[in-house]
Amino acid sequence: MRVCLVFVGLLAGLLLANCSNKPKEGVPDKPTFAEHIAPIIFKNCSPCHRDSGAAPFPLTSYGQVRGKAKTIAKVTEKRYMPPWPADPSYSHFVGEKYLSDAEIATIKRWVDQGCATGKDGIYLQWKAPAWRSNIGKPDMVLPLEPVALLPNLQDRFFLVKIPGLLPRDTWVRAIEFVAGEPNLVHHFNGHILMYEPGAKKNHAKPPLNMEITSGEYDSDFIKLDLLNDNDSKPYRLHSAVNYLPGVQATAYPNGIGIFRLTKMFTIVGNDLHYGPGNRKTTDKSYINLFFTDKPPARETRELMLGTNGVSRISPPLQIEPNTRSRHSTRFQVDADISLLTVNPHLHMLGKSIKGYAIKPNGDTVKLISIPKWDFRWQYFYTFKNPVHLPAGTWIISEAEFDNTLANPNNPNRPPKRVGERLEYGGASMRAGDEMFQFILTYMLYQKGDEKISLETDER
Ligand code: HEC
Repeated sequence: MRVCLVFVGLLAGLLLANCSNKPKEGVPDKPTFAEHIAPIIFKNCSPCHRDSGAAPFPLTSYGQVRGKAKTIAKVTEKRYMPPWPADPSYSHFVGEKYLSDAEIATIKRWVDQGCATGKDGIYLQWKAPAWRSNIGKPDMVLPLEPVALLPNLQDRFFLVKIPGLLPRDTWVRAIEFVAGEPNLVHHFNGHILMYEPGAKKNHAKPPLNMEITSGEYDSDFIKLDLLNDNDSKPYRLHSAVNYLPGVQATAYPNGIGIFRLTKMFTIVGNDLHYGPGNRKTTDKSYINLFFTDKPPARETRELMLGTNGVSRISPPLQIEPNTRSRHSTRFQVDADISLLTVNPHLHMLGKSIKGYAIKPNGDTVKLISIPKWDFRWQYFYTFKNPVHLPAGTWIISEAEFDNTLANPNNPNRPPKRVGERLEYGGASMRAGDEMFQFILTYMLYQKGDEKISLETDER
């Protein structure tokens, strides 16, 4: 009987699909959660909107999506969600998250029509992967020492030590910090110390963390017992793993290595910053490592234009109060390179940023355009295939800043003169100072690189 009903239902469905429910420009006449909405939400929203995810509420079931339906229609129509600041009509990247016009119209129609469930839509549930990662299944997981947090409404800063041991020196193709309490972890800045064979007997001695006040950054080597046994400093890979809410780690396919880890290493969080907490909880953050087992790994390198980097900003980044200004920076590469990833970085006054390259033959290669800069979404944008830039290519980045009160993100009210703090070598971590960086990750070019797919299986 049941089978029969299902069959009749199917038949009716087919008939409907054939006449009244015909898609109009890719938008179904009667969208349902089961058939149309769940696939869009689960792919583009749930990875952040999940229990203890980066977003403030979960969107992993019909009930949850329906509960927010009107707002969802609004924020998708405005393209406020999912956050994807790069202009998809300028260039494309791996794992890009933006909805097509048809998807946005489908959501709107579904909401306008009262949020139909569709067959078994009520029971559909986003399935969280068995591991917490934006990349995939890690090869090694290093938990941080758990930190007890209180509802004390105060910022807290920690130095943390995360010792690791491997059977042999190993190439890393991705490293990722996963916040245990994403609403509370404000940022993590991690460096890696690599110990040469025999340089240190025990690199895992407690304490594994200690609370510091902001700015107390230089004495960590002694406090956390990080020096080699002969008191010399081990090699330090600076800023190897960083986290800000919204930042997603970059992963390259097997065979491309970002750095080589020694058997004995320690990740030093300097620092781990918690924002003011409103509840009692224990943060259990951790670090995921992804290795490449295809030797020899192709090695990546970094190039930073702008503040603290290899190229000057013109005109210099000093922005007078109540003005808007445009600046650019350019650098000529002296070797053939394969560009993998770009990471534009501005602070609160940034309005837009663009990056492109001009090859020696005069061709322009569009790299990235972010027409509306949003400080919160600072992604590493990885191209679908490496971009070959021959020796002699100019890489150019242009940015616009708004130091008026019309900029709602202006941290200074009234506006102040801001810019690079040259007395500190340009960079400043204070969000009230401005920065302009265009950071590139590349490999030295080898024939055929253009054909490598930088999509990883896991995404
Ligand atoms: C990269 C992580 C991320 C993704 C992907 C994401 N969101 Fe969000 N979302 C957030 C964060 C963080 C906030 C809270 C901050 C804010 O409102 O900007 C948020 C806020 C929201 C809000 C509340 C906005 C408001 O004005 O109150 C809605 C609704 C929403 N998201 C819906 C969606 C939908 C629908 C999708 C997928 C189409 C999506 N989000 C994808 C991180 C994400």
